[in-house]
This record gives sequence, structure tokens and C-alpha cells, in this order.
Amino acid sequence: MGAAKASALHHQPTDVRLGRIVRLLMENATVVASGTKIAQEISSNRSEVWRLIQQLRGLGVDVAGHPATGYQLRSVPDLLLPEILQRLLRGTIFDSHLHHYYKIGSTNATAMSAAADGAPEGSVFLAEEQTAGRGRGANAWHSARSAGIYCSVVLRPVLPPSEVLVLSLAAGLAVDEALRQMDARVQPDLKWPNDVLIGGKKVCGILTEMNAEITQVRYIVVGIGINVNHMFFPEDLAGLATSLRLESGSEWSRVELAAALLKSLHREYRQFLEEPDAKKSILRRFAERSSWVSGKAVRIDDGGSGFEGVHEGAFQGTTEGLDERGFLRVRTANGVRTVLSGTVREC
Ligand code: BTN
Repeated sequence: MGAAKASALHHQPTDVRLGRIVRLLMENATVVASGTKIAQEISSNRSEVWRLIQQLRGLGVDVAGHPATGYQLRSVPDLLLPEILQRLLRGTIFDSHLHHYYKIGSTNATAMSAAADGAPEGSVFLAEEQTAGRGRGANAWHSARSAGIYCSVVLRPVLPPSEVLVLSLAAGLAVDEALRQMDARVQPDLKWPNDVLIGGKKVCGILTEMNAEITQVRYIVVGIGINVNHMFFPEDLAGLATSLRLESGSEWSRVELAAALLKSLHREYRQFLEEPDAKKSILRRFAERSSWVSGKAVRIDDGGSGFEGVHEGAFQGTTEGLDERGFLRVRTANGVRTVLSGTVREC
């Protein structure tokens, strides 16, 4: 097979039979499952089962056995397979349209084009690895294989585009809640608008993209990247990025964290849509969970158009809370400025 064809295949959604085999082996964890039994379950034959088992091994799933003896899992795999996640997400809007890729360009790019093609609200796109992970601005997102969570969800709220910032702040709160729920010792710090830091270094980034008319959102994709079990980062991220494993000293279950994240995103989204005071509550809770929103000496760099008022390229000041739309207010020598976008740095 040519390199181009092999790489295109990697960008296909995961063969659902792999997930079914993993589920079968997990359900029968204490016994050896025969190749014949697995073949029946996935409506295939024993040699195809062997080929799929070899694929699973290539992906790091620890399966003992061979066609003559049958197969058994040596440990529970930490892959974000729909067959594993679905049951953990029951009762949320994210339990029915889970899409998994071993390798993908960007889950956000795929989710945006799926949404354009009509993917329903609650569709989730997860990948073990991204080859063109997108960050805010022109940044890339480092997406090492099976180390992080690379997840994009499609939402279709009835909203004007001006309210999407608050929704994206709520996504930050969902990450914060999921991390604290998994390990109460972790103390995330939300950095406006959409970073989650631990010990001053970035552990999670959120990229919210939308397609909208002037007064009405068509669809939104919230893309969340969490550095979970990374042990090192490329040189250009040294001192800037960290992972949950590096901070806590132990490995995290990506499956449990992804489930906790999607459940708390579901809760935040429902509250945002249904509760009359939700916007206020999101802004208040974001400010409570952030050391950046008030009293921080910052320098703001915009990409060209990120402030209300006179455009000066970059400025310094002290943060003074969020306005009612979710924008950051910064007191400068010339009065209070409102930051609409751009990079916030401590100074
Ligand atoms: C940032 O902080 O710059 C935002 C990073 C967002 C990264 C996530 S990973 C999953 C999703 N797919 C992408 O291509 N980007 C987002």
C-alpha cells in the first residue's frame, strides 16, 4: 500500500469492530474468549479477528493469546473508544454520536465540516492523535498519540453570536470541574478567555469555532485539548506547557477524565440554556476560579483588532473583572479598556 493511501486510511474513523472486540474482552475479563466466539460477535471470521487483534496491539492494547488459545485482556485499555465511553455518558447529549479516530488532522476541522453537513447537536469527535491540531490564533496544538484528550463537540444553541463567548467560558468551567472531581488536589487556574493552567503552565486549551448569521448561530464546535499523560513537550513549549501526569506524579485515566469532562460540559450547557441567571453565574464562577480576572498586572497583545477603543497594538494594565458579555476589563494609565480578543500575559 502506498504511503499516501496508508495515511488516508489512518484518518478514517476507527473500525467499529475494534471497539466491539475490546468491549467483549472487557465484559469477559476473567475468561479467555475464543477466536470463534469473537468472530461470531463481530460477524466475521477467525483470521479477521486475528488481524484486528494485531491492530489493537499496535495501538497499545495489551491482549494476551493467539488464534489457537483465544484472547484475554491483560489490562483495561485507556482508549477513548465509543464502545467504552458511551455507557459512561448515558443521559447526556453526548451519548449517541461518538466518533473516534486513531489519527486525524484536527478534531475541530472534522467536527466543523461534519456540522456543515448536518451532524446533530451532541456529536463528539475524539482522536488519539492529531497531525494538524489547531490552537487559537495561528497556533498549533501539540497532540502526541494517546497522551492527551483531543475532543470536539458540535452544539446547536439558539443564540446570537455575541453570547458564544460566555458559553466558551462555561466550557473552561467544565474542564475545571472535571479535573477537580478526578483529583481534589489539583488546583486549576482559568486564564481568560480559554486556557486552564496548573502552576502557571498550560494544561488545557479550548478552541471555540462557529458558523453564524449576523443574529443567529448556526452551529458551534467546542474543541478541548487536555495534556493528560505527556511526559515531555517539544522545546518551544518548555516552561509553558505541563500535563496532569507531570503535575500529579501519576498516570491519569483518559477514559474517566473524558467522561467526567463531557458530563460536566453537558451540565454547564444545560444550565446555560435553561437557567435564567446562568450567564451571571458563569461569569461569577469563572472569576472565582481565575487568578487572572481581577488584580493581575498584564500585558495584552492583540492580533490586530482585539480592543474596544483606540488601537495601539499592545498595552499594559491591571485586570478589573469581566464585563456582562464576558470580555476582560483592564485598567490602564488612560482608563479602563475592554479586551475582545488577543493574548494575555502576566507582566
Ligand atoms: C488553544 O489554547 O490555543 C486552543 C487549543 C485547542 C486544542 C483542541 S485539541 C481538540 C480540538 N481540535 C483542534 O484542532 N483543536 C482543539
